[in-house]
Amino acid sequence: MYLEKIHLVNYRNIIETLHQLNPNINILLGYNGQGKTNFIESIYILGTGSSHKNNVDRELINWQHQKALIRVLLKRRDQDLKISLLIDRSGKKAEINDTPLARISELIGNINVVLFSPEDLNLVKGGPYYRRRFIDLEISQVSPYYYYQLQKYNHVLKQRNNLLKEIRDKKSDDKLLEMWDQQLIETGSKIILKRIKVIDKLKILARLSQRQITNGSENLSVEYDLSLKEVLGDEEQTRLIFKHLLTNNRKEEIKRGYTLFGPHRDDLVFKVNNVDIRKYGSQGQQRTTSLALKLAELEYMKSETGEYPILLLDDVFSELDQKRSNTLLNLIDGKIQTFITTTDLTTLDNLKQDNYSFFQVEKGVLTLKG
Ligand SMILES: Nc1ncnc2c1ncn2[C@@H]1O[C@H](COP(=O)(O)OP(=O)(O)OP(=O)(O)O)[C@@H](O)[C@H]1O
Ligand SMILES: [Mg+2]
Repeated sequence: MYLEKIHLVNYRNIIETLHQLNPNINILLGYNGQGKTNFIESIYILGTGSSHKNNVDRELINWQHQKALIRVLLKRRDQDLKISLLIDRSGKKAEINDTPLARISELIGNINVVLFSPEDLNLVKGGPYYRRRFIDLEISQVSPYYYYQLQKYNHVLKQRNNLLKEIRDKKSDDKLLEMWDQQLIETGSKIILKRIKVIDKLKILARLSQRQITNGSENLSVEYDLSLKEVLGDEEQTRLIFKHLLTNNRKEEIKRGYTLFGPHRDDLVFKVNNVDIRKYGSQGQQRTTSLALKLAELEYMKSETGEYPILLLDDVFSELDQKRSNTLLNLIDGKIQTFITTTDLTTLDNLKQDNYSFFQVEKGVLTLKG
């Protein structure tokens, strides 16, 4: 899939930009603070419903104006979609082919995006939250059903945690837990089993990418670290294990006022040549691993939807050495619509000439240079 056209109005420091985009590579060149990441962020929001940088809609609107607009024409294999998102003081409203969406979450799955930026080092170095977010966002983009279960789970979890606190403070009866337990187990088991399936595919793809980037010298393994520990069976069995854990740990959960088991406590473990890369990896190895995971994400989405997602590379090439840059460029060139931001064109020396569009970004103005 690719974006054919984009129209931004009052989006952060971009007052108005309307451009035809290259189905292959689009380079955004400019000094610091000119609007390159803002441009990338606007596409990311259309794909995921929210920004990777913040959760405050108001910050997306240009300071001098009341509303912002992001509009694109998306070419998918089977159809063209006009997608627009209006952001004003009351929130976000989206339309697809001029039909308003009831919820912003319905945007997800129309434009598939993969973003890779220097902050993705958190995927390897940061807390479990980043890894859960990675896997959840990846699956949600290709499975609306998973996204729906995830939202349901988070809602149930919140209610259950509140109830645990109330029981602890003697404001509620623990008989009420039964109903929430049932719902938590029901949705939680579905999430866990789907994650197991996806991680099984992802680990093969990530291993392949890591070997490609490192000339076969690094073997990456990805393991799903479950709070339920021994899930191997079907949904029925998963539910039983889940229920067993909740029943056996009820006292502890009430004491803490928090749910101790379930997909919200899971993590991923990355090992390179059998060593935990989060604890012992060098900065370069950690960076390679996060790149390998992103490349695996691209291939996973392709295998699920039949099309490559749109790739957003924010400030990535300045952080990669020549070999890694080339591996990445070879992989995307001619196959995947990609937006690349950079302050320095020499990092992209190996791009084939006539295969890209090149935009100069200055004070929020994008100018096509050929
Ligand atoms: N709501 C807003 N209204 C107006 N300007 C904004 C708004 N939000 C952010 N900005 C401005 O946008 C600029 C940052 O743009 P952006 O992050 O896209 O820069 P960049 O070109 O990616 O720079 P770098 O190379 O440093 O990453 C900042 O100068 C910031 O003040
Ligand atoms: Mg930037």
